[in-house]
Amino acid sequence: MNSKVINDIQPEITGMAPGSALAWLANKFPDQVVFSTSFGWEDQVITHMIFSQKLPIKVFTLETGRIFPETYYVWNRTMEMYGQPVYAYYPKTELVQEMVSKKGPSSFYESVENRKECCGIRKIEPLKRALAGNTVWITGIRAEQSANRQYMDNIEWDEGNQIIKYHPIYSWSLDEVKNYIKTNNIPYNPLHDKGFPSIGCAPCTRAVQPGEDFRAGRWWWEDQSKKECGLHSVQEIITEK
Ligand code: ADX
Ligand code: SF4
Repeated sequence: MNSKVINDIQPEITGMAPGSALAWLANKFPDQVVFSTSFGWEDQVITHMIFSQKLPIKVFTLETGRIFPETYYVWNRTMEMYGQPVYAYYPKTELVQEMVSKKGPSSFYESVENRKECCGIRKIEPLKRALAGNTVWITGIRAEQSANRQYMDNIEWDEGNQIIKYHPIYSWSLDEVKNYIKTNNIPYNPLHDKGFPSIGCAPCTRAVQPGEDFRAGRWWWEDQSKKECGLHSVQEIITEK
């Protein structure tokens, strides 16, 4: 598997509805397609497409140990509604114990280095385990979400993880996402109705003010340019024009 495969896939799925493209990929790469969900509304749209069609795509979440109670609520409601598993990947206990014992439970506020260490332990290392051995990684990224994300492609090669990355609702507007959720009666995180357009870990996410940027509430104390946790930053930098 290498980056050239994208040239074969791109023309096949271009013009397909996202749900059909997901079905096509699941069929083309049996048991090799995985979807990462943080239970945000974009992810709930994709979860619905996967679960309602019973596609053989493994749905997983990175359970950092610091997520909101509301995120557990929507996670439970999703499993009740579709009756299908959401695989949870946890950080390695020893790494969390060591970091928290040495630096306390809120070291991420103290420096960008500490914050990246925490994201590395709680998200990046578990992500590597979740992606290992697979061919396609599905995400809920949309172009509108940040300046960097506007310059990505809806399908791209992730060099760091050696995997094809596909963002099925990359070109959707927020209204399209909300309408899809409403029409299909999909459970969603109640924080979205309280000023949280983008939801990550509880200590690192806050509500935004009207007119503020979509991701302004994520790692709000940091410089704008550093506000990525590393799940997606590599490709975004590479594709930045
Ligand atoms: S982040 O890099 O800033 O954390 P963001 O919250 O915008 O990412 O989410 C973009 C996509 O990354 C989501 O649609 C989802 O596919 C994936 N993602 C983010 N956080 C998680 C998580 N905790 N578990 C699984 N997937 C996640
Ligand atoms: Fe740690 Fe915050 Fe990153 Fe979550 S978002 S892994 S709490 S630094």
